[in-house]
Amino acid sequence: MKIKESIALVQEKRSRDGPLPIEVAPYTCSDFFKVQKRGTKPKAVRWDHRLSLESRNLRTSPLKAASRANQGDIISLGTARPTPEYYPWDVLTMQCRSTAASSGNEQQQSSSMSCLDGESGYDLGIAMNYGYSTGSPQVLRYVTEHIEMVHDPPYDDWESCLTCGSTSALDITLRILCNRGDAVLVEKYTYSGTLGTIHAQGLHTVGIEMDQFGLLPEDLDQQLDTWDSDKGPKPFVLYMIPTGQNPTGATQNLTRRKEIYRIAVKHDLYILEDDPYYFLNMERAGYNGTTPQSLTLDPDDYLQHLPTSYLSLDTSGRVLRIDTTSKILAPGLRCGWITGCSQIVNKFVSYSEVGIAAPAGPSQVMLYKLLDETWGHEGFIKWLNSLSEEYRQRRDMMIEACMNSLPLEVCHWETPAAGMFIWVVVKATKHPEFGQHINGELSQKTLLHIEGEIFKKCQENGVLVSKGSWFRPEGQELQDLCFRLTFAASSKDVLSQGITRFGKALRSEFAM
Ligand SMILES: Cc1ncc(COP(=O)(O)O)c(C=O)c1O
Repeated sequence: MKIKESIALVQEKRSRDGPLPIEVAPYTCSDFFKVQKRGTKPKAVRWDHRLSLESRNLRTSPLKAASRANQGDIISLGTARPTPEYYPWDVLTMQCRSTAASSGNEQQQSSSMSCLDGESGYDLGIAMNYGYSTGSPQVLRYVTEHIEMVHDPPYDDWESCLTCGSTSALDITLRILCNRGDAVLVEKYTYSGTLGTIHAQGLHTVGIEMDQFGLLPEDLDQQLDTWDSDKGPKPFVLYMIPTGQNPTGATQNLTRRKEIYRIAVKHDLYILEDDPYYFLNMERAGYNGTTPQSLTLDPDDYLQHLPTSYLSLDTSGRVLRIDTTSKILAPGLRCGWITGCSQIVNKFVSYSEVGIAAPAGPSQVMLYKLLDETWGHEGFIKWLNSLSEEYRQRRDMMIEACMNSLPLEVCHWETPAAGMFIWVVVKATKHPEFGQHINGELSQKTLLHIEGEIFKKCQENGVLVSKGSWFRPEGQELQDLCFRLTFAASSKDVLSQGITRFGKALRSEFAM
């Protein structure tokens, strides 16, 4: 369906439903906002047998449940939500950009957005009060519509819920599913923040082999088929970053995704689809890497070029998709959303009630004013499209700099199709120390030592890179020397200088 047609359906539903509730922290859920009727798709399978001991004991807060009924003409003497009369802010005024990501664009038009005490849509007094843990109806409605438009989950009882970003969402989800001592299946190299969360909860990791299209289904299947129960319970949580993977930049193609999903069904796995780089898709049909002009797509083309998410493939409700605003709007919002079957999302809401409570009101207002009132669904897609083109240009600049300045005899990389990272693999066998080792093999200690020396030389030359070993699951031997470079953090004009400095450090270490 074209985006304009989907938006027309959303508008129709909104006018049928009438205005959103405007009391404090109203109970809300995605079901209220889905365009498609319930009961037209299969239901998710049950996950009771996979819940952790901790999450089985979790109860919904009686105070929060009581305030669900707090609608209409009721005098609340029950919950300690201070009256907005005493909040020292009367108005929040924000200026936002048009939907073109580049600030250098002369035609850039900004819009003024304000949120007042006493306004009808999303009152500042309500936004600054306690909120319900799924998020405000205003933001959850937008998120639900967005999920339905982009991913259209193929089962009935899916729900979305706002989060305080993916880091927090992962922490909560692992608590829902895992007991201390359990193992989580992860890619052979994975986001170091998630490794930190996993280890902090007393969990282990099992690394699955990868190639340039990400996690290898054969290795996943084999490790599960041959799981030795002396090592502990067979793992059933599979954590993946399927698009523009952090750190390798790999994007799984559709065949790969379908095969991994098939194996997940075979072994009854629950998939955590951590996908912050999904919208930073840099694939452009017919583009050979040399066209200099801007390649921003038509919004419908842009959506069609996006990978098929696991959420879109998920017929059994075994995927929790984790989205964040960190890489597409701003990390300081500390906001994102999860989408999965209602059994797991409801547990997530109960955890949020005893932890984060709800994403911060000012962040929710900023999202609502920008996404719903100012840009609308089409505007958001235009923004994502334009942002992905910015990253496409940055990626190409960095790839060109790598070709020009890195010693090609000792290193190689793949051009990432999405995300923010280039993963440079350095041939350790070309290192001067290589010949001095037994059987010509470098020990782990030596590899780590060389990696450390390169890192140090980079710093001395004035460039910061990330070591491959930071992204290794526990017990995973370092097989290569790898470095993660990002084209997201520095200004465009210094990217190539950064690569020159990295090249200098490599040449010095390899005595070239
Ligand atoms: C794969 C992955 N997951 C999660 C995060 C953290 O996201 P958030 O800022 O939403 O906590 C990052 C940040 O780099 C990431 O790369």
